[in-house]
Amino acid sequence: MKIDPWSSSTYQDYARLRDEFGIEAFSEQHWHHLPNPHRLLRRGVVFGQRDFSIINKSIQEKRPWAILTGLMPSGKMHLGHKMIIDEVIYYQSIGADIFIAVADIESYGTRGYSLQQTKTLAIEEYIKNYIALGLKPDNCQIYFQSKNQDVKDLAYLLGKKVNWSQMTATYGFSGKTNMTHVFSPLIQTGDILHVQLPKFGGIRPVLVPVGVDQDPHIRLSRDIAKAHRLYNVTKTKDGRIGVFVKPDEQIESLLDNAEEILRSNEFTSLKRITDYKAIYVNDATEENIDHIDKLLAYSEPEFDGYGFLPPAATFHRFMTGLTGEKMSSSKPESAIFLTDTSSEAKKKIMHAKTGGAVSLEQQKKEGGNPDDCMIYELFLYHLTDDDEELKEIYTTCKQGERMCGHCKKQAAERMGSILETIARKREHAEEIIEEYL
Ligand code: TRP
Ligand code: SF4
Repeated sequence: MKIDPWSSSTYQDYARLRDEFGIEAFSEQHWHHLPNPHRLLRRGVVFGQRDFSIINKSIQEKRPWAILTGLMPSGKMHLGHKMIIDEVIYYQSIGADIFIAVADIESYGTRGYSLQQTKTLAIEEYIKNYIALGLKPDNCQIYFQSKNQDVKDLAYLLGKKVNWSQMTATYGFSGKTNMTHVFSPLIQTGDILHVQLPKFGGIRPVLVPVGVDQDPHIRLSRDIAKAHRLYNVTKTKDGRIGVFVKPDEQIESLLDNAEEILRSNEFTSLKRITDYKAIYVNDATEENIDHIDKLLAYSEPEFDGYGFLPPAATFHRFMTGLTGEKMSSSKPESAIFLTDTSSEAKKKIMHAKTGGAVSLEQQKKEGGNPDDCMIYELFLYHLTDDDEELKEIYTTCKQGERMCGHCKKQAAERMGSILETIARKREHAEEIIEEYL
């Protein structure tokens, strides 16, 4: 199995995907400490994560952390795209610094849009809707890849520690792939890591919420972040915890620095072996590795390093389209766009594929199938925040007490009023958009 971030395939078996790529499960233990956990986190829509524990830790300890995500301006914004921004707005409400990359270079390189087209699309379709949905301008920056010199510089410089074989193995590039496309994962790595530069708030945990198709980019960014570190903290073959200096310059001063940091953090049983470029920490255990690694990371900029902490990520499922295939901008009947009028959206909902039985009688007798129903999915992802109500919809459907006609109508009404509110708020977005850019 290969994840191709640029294909239009959908994934059926998320658990298998997760296991195959070493993504960890995202479950109740991850969200139940969060303040007012968002419905997408509670309901299994966000189903996987990497390193989410470092984010949880920052939240519990009230230390700074950041969100970085991106949007690819290609076509209109639909309900599938809304999920990311729902998550981002939630994280903003609990104190994260927010960064949003407009992937205009990626869209140019992989989808054939001009930079001017992507700019118009990004503003009209995405950013105005983000504002209408409730994204606040405080601690929030939206930028275009093509205009961000720090991101582009990082892309070039960080590319040093990844080679062509790794890129083709990860992405399946061929001799025909254009070079802007080839380079776009490095720009995305620049997006993800630049927020840890001093100018953007410095080294701190960063969470990248994305759809699971983006995992190859997450793995690449994590690998690159680690490859550029000056220290490596690890358990050695004989079971000791060792701090190793990676570069071949400044070895003595890097060891001095590590020793000082370790001692001032109550690790005192140290054995330094300069020839191995190592300090063995005899009073540390495996549980201390991340902590020590983080302590050392913060000091790396003094030695011309970046000290990047590996970015954490969460992965959400994709929404099924109303027609039963993928929700896609190129199939208008499959998607509800945020700029649809309420009557357009209602019409699409009334035509959507449901899990209803062939006849009313049979549905009363055998019940419907909410697990294979686009209407139920709408309630689950977007139309109710109330878990009790959702459960009620599920069980009454299963028991044949709920009929599709009525159910669709209820969904259509709610969707209609959500879209009307968004449209109204979008009118005023223009006035404040500059505060975000
Ligand atoms: N590649 C992403 C997409 O196709 C867009 C993107 C660009 C992104 N930079 C990012 C996503 C950084 C997350 C983080 O939608
Ligand atoms: Fe779907 Fe509602 Fe019909 Fe159940 S009653 S199958 S949830 S539309």
